[in-house]
Amino acid sequence: MKVLVAGGQGQLGRQLQEVHPHGVQGEFRGRDQLDITDATNVREVVGEARPDVLINAAVMPVEACESNPDVARQINVVGPRNLAEACRDFNVHLIHLSTDYVFNGRGCLPYQIDDPTGPIQAYGRSKLEGEQAVFGAHDRVTVVRTAWLYSKFGTNFMRTMLRLMGERDKLTVIDDQVGTPTWAKPLAEFLWAMARSSAPTGIFHWTDAGVASWYDFAVAIRGEAVRAGLLDSSAARVLPISTAEYSGTTNRPHFSVLDKSKAWAWLREQAPDVRVRHWTESLQEALTSLT
Ligand SMILES: NC(=O)c1ccc[n+]([C@@H]2O[C@H](COP(=O)([O-])OP(=O)(O)OC[C@H]3O[C@@H](n4cnc5c(N)ncnc54)[C@H](OP(=O)(O)O)[C@@H]3O)[C@@H](O)[C@H]2O)c1
Repeated sequence: MKVLVAGGQGQLGRQLQEVHPHGVQGEFRGRDQLDITDATNVREVVGEARPDVLINAAVMPVEACESNPDVARQINVVGPRNLAEACRDFNVHLIHLSTDYVFNGRGCLPYQIDDPTGPIQAYGRSKLEGEQAVFGAHDRVTVVRTAWLYSKFGTNFMRTMLRLMGERDKLTVIDDQVGTPTWAKPLAEFLWAMARSSAPTGIFHWTDAGVASWYDFAVAIRGEAVRAGLLDSSAARVLPISTAEYSGTTNRPHFSVLDKSKAWAWLREQAPDVRVRHWTESLQEALTSLT
C-alpha cells in the first residue's frame, strides 16, 4: 500500500517518517513538493502518486494564525479542502489532523468528540473550519484531533524548555491551562495503524493518557532531563504563573483534555500492538531517546 504525507517535513511528518512501517510505501512531501493551498499542484501530485491513503500533517501553527488569519485560512481550511477534493476524485482515504483548540476550554471533564465546539483564537477557528471543509468535500475522511505535541523534531514545548532551562536560572510557566502532553511517536504509530487497516471514517481524539498543566509538564521535563543527564542540577528552577500574569497575546483554552475512549477501543480491536502511554512514561522515553 502507498501513503502520501502532506506537511511531511513538519514535526509530525518527520515523526511519521521515523516510525514508517515496513511493507508500506511512504511519500513524505514538504511544502516545496506539495503546496496544499495550490489546488492544481494538489491534483497533480495526488493524481500522479495515486496513494491509498493521504495523511495531512500540514498546518499554520497557533501564534502565526493570530497575526495572519487570511493565510491561516488558506493553509488550515482551503488546503485541507483541496486535499479532500483530490482524494474524492482519485478515491483516496484522507486522514486529516486537527486540534483540542476547537473547544473553548471552559469544560472540566474530558471533551467528548461530539461536544459543542467554540474555538477562542484564529488557529482553532481555522482548524474547525478545516474539519468541516474536509467532511463537506469527501466521504472517506478521518479527522484525528490531537494536542500539546512534542518530539525531537521541530519547535515544541519540550525542546524550548530544555534550551531555556540550560540558559537561565529560573523560568515561569503557566499553571492554569490544563491538557495532555503528547509525544508525537505514539500518535504516529496510531496514524500508521489507521492507514493500514482501512481507517474508519469520522472524528477520533488522540493524545497520551493523563492530565497536566504546562507547569506540571515543565517540572517533569526538568526532573527527567536531569535524571537522563541532559541537564545538570543547576538547570533553571520552574515557577508557576497564571495566564493573566503571562505576556502572550493568543487566547488559549484553560482546559482541553480530550476523551480518547473511541480511539483506544478501536486500537484494542484493530491494532493491539500500539501501546497507549501515560504522558510521564512518554516523556521519559522521549528524553531517553535524546541521550
Ligand atoms: N504541535 C502541536 O502542539 C499540535 C497540537 C494539536 C494539533 N496539532 C496538529 O497536528 C498537525 C501537525 O502539527 P505539527 O506540530 O507537525 O506542525 P508543524 O511542525 O508546524 O509542521 C507543519 C508543516 O506544514 C507545512 N506547511 C505549511 N504550509 C503548507 C502548505 N501550504 N503546503 C504544505 N505544507 C505546508 C510546514 O512547512 P513550512 O515549515 O515550510 O512552513 C510544516 O513543515 C497539525 O494539523 C496540527 O494542527 C498539533
